[in-house]
Amino acid sequence: MARPLIVLGSLNMDLVIRAPRHPRPGETLVGSNFGMFPGGKGANQAVAVARLGQPVTMIGCVGRDAFGDALIATLQAAGVDTTGVARADAATGVALITLSAAGENTIVVAPGANGAVTPELVRMHEPLMAGAAALLLQLEVPLPAVETAIRLARGHGVPVILNPAPARPLPAELIAQVDYLIPNQHEAALLTGLPVHSPEEAQMAAEVLRRSGAGVVVLTLGEQGALVLADGEPVHVPAFPVEVVDTTAAGDAFVGAFAVALSEGRAPVEAATWGCAAGALACTVLGAQPSLPTRTAVLRLVTGDE
Ligand code: RIB
Repeated sequence: MARPLIVLGSLNMDLVIRAPRHPRPGETLVGSNFGMFPGGKGANQAVAVARLGQPVTMIGCVGRDAFGDALIATLQAAGVDTTGVARADAATGVALITLSAAGENTIVVAPGANGAVTPELVRMHEPLMAGAAALLLQLEVPLPAVETAIRLARGHGVPVILNPAPARPLPAELIAQVDYLIPNQHEAALLTGLPVHSPEEAQMAAEVLRRSGAGVVVLTLGEQGALVLADGEPVHVPAFPVEVVDTTAAGDAFVGAFAVALSEGRAPVEAATWGCAAGALACTVLGAQPSLPTRTAVLRLVTGDE
């Protein structure tokens, strides 16, 4: 049995409305269908891992409410171990998502119970980390919990994979403790102060992040693929072209697939190819967790086999 991946992160209920375009400030737009989908960057990444066949345990917090019940049930149905998901006296996290005709989203999150993920909660689950294949984190739970988890994982020799989303400044000491840093263009731009629009600019930003101490930098570039910078020359991994329905959770699909490929012994560039395939497939289906692809679908795209 493979060692489990541990995901520390958020769980949100995503409330999604499709609109012809994004509204301007002060404007009311009439959209079309409304949908409710399980989401949250942490939970999405945990489900992405489970769909690819790797055991995974989630650490996080939901409220004592119907959204909390539904999010835990969906994780369990996907095969995620939820023993690390606690209940807090706060409403379950909610994300309001507007989806444009081009499939692009804007997201506003009310973190609610995600804010109750504390260093104490993380420490309670240290035994889970001790035998883990890797620790996977994002930034939708409070930073002290993220810092504690990273410290514990490193103490047990467990590789740390950080997806610094949503974008926020980070202490240099934290970046220096990350084995695999997976920012998107916006996050990399915020962390480095550099523009990141092309693979060439991505390379410069990745070099800055590596100089800050990140082990391997995998900078995702949406429809331009990803740039991987480890010890040698940077490698640009192209995207897989698909018909875009909804980009929500494409980044989460990338990170989950990258982590699985890596923990199966694949090199970072191959793992990023898995990530690009999973991210592309996630864009073809509406909703966060419903869009996360199976192992068969990812391998079919990676190998080109019909
Ligand atoms: O990465 C996508 C996720 O971001 C959504 O599911 C939403 O909940 C927000 O956390």
